[in-house]
Amino acid sequence: KVIHLKDYQVPDYLIDETHLTFELYEDRTLVHAQLVMRRNPEAGAGLPPLQLHGQDLELMSLSLNDRALGLGDYQVAEESLTLQPDTASFTLDSTVVIHPESNTALEGLYKSGKMFCTQCEAEGFRKITYYLDRPDVMSTFTTTVSADKQAYPILLSNGNPIASGEEEDGRHWATWEDPFKKPAYLFALVAGDLWCVEDSFTTMSGRDVALRIYVEPENIDKCQHAMDSLKKSMKWDEEAYGREYDLDIFMIVAVNDFNMGAMENKGLNIFNSSAVLARAETATDAAHQRVEAIVAHEYFHNWSGNRVTCRDWFQLSLKEGFTVFRDSQFSADMNSPTVKRVEDVSYLRTHQFAEDAGPMAHSVRPESFIEISNFYTLTVYEKGAEVVRMIQTLLGEEGFRKGSDLYFERHDGQAVTVDDFVKAMEDANGADLTQFKRWYSQAGTPRLAVSERYDAAAKTYSLTFRQSCPPTPGQSEKLPFVIPVSLGLLDGQGREIPLRLQDEDAAVGTTRVLAVEQAEQTFTFVEVPEQPLPSLLRGFSAPVKLEFPYSRDQLMFLMQHDSDGFNRWEAGQQLSVQVLQEMIGQHQRGEALQLDQRLVTALRSLLEDERLDPAMVAEMLSLPSEAYLTEISEVADVDAIHAARDFARQGIATALFDLFWKRYQANREVSRQTPYVAEASHFARRALQNIALSYLMLSGKSEVVAACVEQFDQADNMTERLTALAVLVNSNFETERQQALDAFAEHFKDNPLVMDQWFSVQAGNTQPGGLERVQHLMQHPAFTLKNPNKVRALIGAFANQNLVNFHRADGAGYRFLADQVIVLNKLNPQIASRLLAPLTRWRKYDAARQGLMKAELERILAAGELSSDVYEVVSKSLA
Ligand code: ARG
Ligand code: ZN
Repeated sequence: KVIHLKDYQVPDYLIDETHLTFELYEDRTLVHAQLVMRRNPEAGAGLPPLQLHGQDLELMSLSLNDRALGLGDYQVAEESLTLQPDTASFTLDSTVVIHPESNTALEGLYKSGKMFCTQCEAEGFRKITYYLDRPDVMSTFTTTVSADKQAYPILLSNGNPIASGEEEDGRHWATWEDPFKKPAYLFALVAGDLWCVEDSFTTMSGRDVALRIYVEPENIDKCQHAMDSLKKSMKWDEEAYGREYDLDIFMIVAVNDFNMGAMENKGLNIFNSSAVLARAETATDAAHQRVEAIVAHEYFHNWSGNRVTCRDWFQLSLKEGFTVFRDSQFSADMNSPTVKRVEDVSYLRTHQFAEDAGPMAHSVRPESFIEISNFYTLTVYEKGAEVVRMIQTLLGEEGFRKGSDLYFERHDGQAVTVDDFVKAMEDANGADLTQFKRWYSQAGTPRLAVSERYDAAAKTYSLTFRQSCPPTPGQSEKLPFVIPVSLGLLDGQGREIPLRLQDEDAAVGTTRVLAVEQAEQTFTFVEVPEQPLPSLLRGFSAPVKLEFPYSRDQLMFLMQHDSDGFNRWEAGQQLSVQVLQEMIGQHQRGEALQLDQRLVTALRSLLEDERLDPAMVAEMLSLPSEAYLTEISEVADVDAIHAARDFARQGIATALFDLFWKRYQANREVSRQTPYVAEASHFARRALQNIALSYLMLSGKSEVVAACVEQFDQADNMTERLTALAVLVNSNFETERQQALDAFAEHFKDNPLVMDQWFSVQAGNTQPGGLERVQHLMQHPAFTLKNPNKVRALIGAFANQNLVNFHRADGAGYRFLADQVIVLNKLNPQIASRLLAPLTRWRKYDAARQGLMKAELERILAAGELSSDVYEVVSKSLA
């Protein structure tokens, strides 16, 4: 069943108060709900039937205003319960039985190991009790949880604890009250044998907030980093957005079985343990940064999501795009802004651009869906964040802050739309964003082709922008976007030329933002003393595919001289892309591969310059990934891409061996002398050290292998250890590889998150036989299809990061993935549907592979009993 944005209607009834009681048992859970309801005055006259959502519920009793209802008084269907109220205000009491102990979909109330927990966004609350499970129905909640005291000493829900007590039979109970009205998707409950790390935060108005992170006892030593991140986030949101926390307590709970990263339930965030637990010995630098970002993201939702929420799920980017934007600003402030921007942009261009070019392409505010879970996408999150970023670029930082202040003030306590957000931005700035809003409604990645003209006699320089956007499902024609282009002009010395547009009296700075609004538009700069070199789209000021005919020499010049750090990296990427694409062509024509030595020269000067930020040097040394090279290909030649990239890496490794070796040894020495610190300058040093090691190992020299084994054995942190393991796994040193893998598994066998990394490293091994290795690892005792992290670490990593093996010509990789999707469709539809994504990219490949991929999609479709999640993705991919 397809749901359309245009069909939105306000709810017929409202819920003012929700009183819940959960009785948790090992073989069933009883849920009593008392809903204090009334007719929605905005919905018109009369008393229409009341239709509540409900799924997989066993109804035990129902009463309206204390009158027990019998079979004739209501109708129960697969996903609803309908009854006829006789008064405008009424109280509805229900009791249902549910089965969290056998809930493998991890939606609603379920068990993760020995604990009970919930995931209600988007539509999971209807699996807990009959309710108006839609975000524009907001209610206060009082929740009582009762359970066996020994097995579940900790009982948590949203808000503040108000009462607790013991029962005679070894059970106990606790009552929580959340005074803030919220939609049901923000409800949470946790019960388990949990320990907590406790701290406190004093808000800007001087209120004390208790902070608690709950984990299973064995993880109590891995919470400090998340706690530090939480306190930084609370402070940052006060300073950057004027947002203060509002309850007396803020809790985070880590659970092992979780479909996504984390969930912002009011006052009780529930996290995938991979997004909370971090300490030097067990989590990499990247994992530390991910924890910091996700803790911040969920915390920031308290305002952008909870206090101001979404009217309907088509507005998801209202909270997600804005909150991703907020967490990216936070991470930029806590670490290196340029490194953060480079990471975000590579991720967007590799994965979101691919989504935009595929069969599931949709706008930031989608128009329709079958299953909302399928729309927690890179487009809604990451592109949505880019759209918010463009608003900030157009309005300026101050104007943007005025807009966000007005938004929070105007809509506190409401469920609103993307239009309301943009309206607040407009009203606070006297701006008109009408045309800009096309970014929310039009799908696809715009192309922006730029051409230049220098008039030496008149000293004018013109840039002509031509924008277009390819058709996407249901949208054949696109209207012009408003594209903010931040740019500068460099002279022959690499100096910035002051920028004065034709109709201006004087130059205004050396970096400025032009708003390209028409299909074709020319801007002319005057008093340009010589033919300049343009630095375009600085900081990636818009999510577009920029085309400008840079020569390789010009790119090398920009790498050296551009004042914009992001664009220095970008010039290096474009140079690498040009060089690699030339080699891909050579491979396809059966010619010997030739590496353009200019790339080696450019990388050499980076490595030689010890004043440069090592993190940026590491980023620039990382060649564009195979996934990115695939995305920018018309037809991706998997084998040629792999061969070209490998050959380039080998050539760079050989030419720059001495430099790599010098910088590796110097940095490894510092690492040996310095205790682990989760801080940007340390991340930077280890990043350069590790990329140097990965190049050095391509030499096969015995002193390098010895250094790698030393780093593996002696490192005091997972960042160094895991890199050493990864390069050994991808090498030909059979003995060292096997020793390292065995030692690692033996040492970390009781730590599931570390074992995930062990699986991932092997899933990513691009040497022949990848599929067989993955199939073999699925038999390992630490692997299970029931844990989403395991599925992602092994099967997901294989299909998304081991492209040569996954796309092997006989289609066995595709068949394997389809088999797993068919099994997971029954176990966990959300995970099944996400795992499927690589098969939906069939358009990118040659005819033979297209046929094989589509055949697997057909086979999934024919397997029958498909969840709405899997059905939607498969059917749209074949349409
Ligand atoms: N709102 C969560 C976040 O912070 C995502 C939860 C979505 N979960 C789901 N199963 N669809 O981004
Ligand atoms: Zn979010």
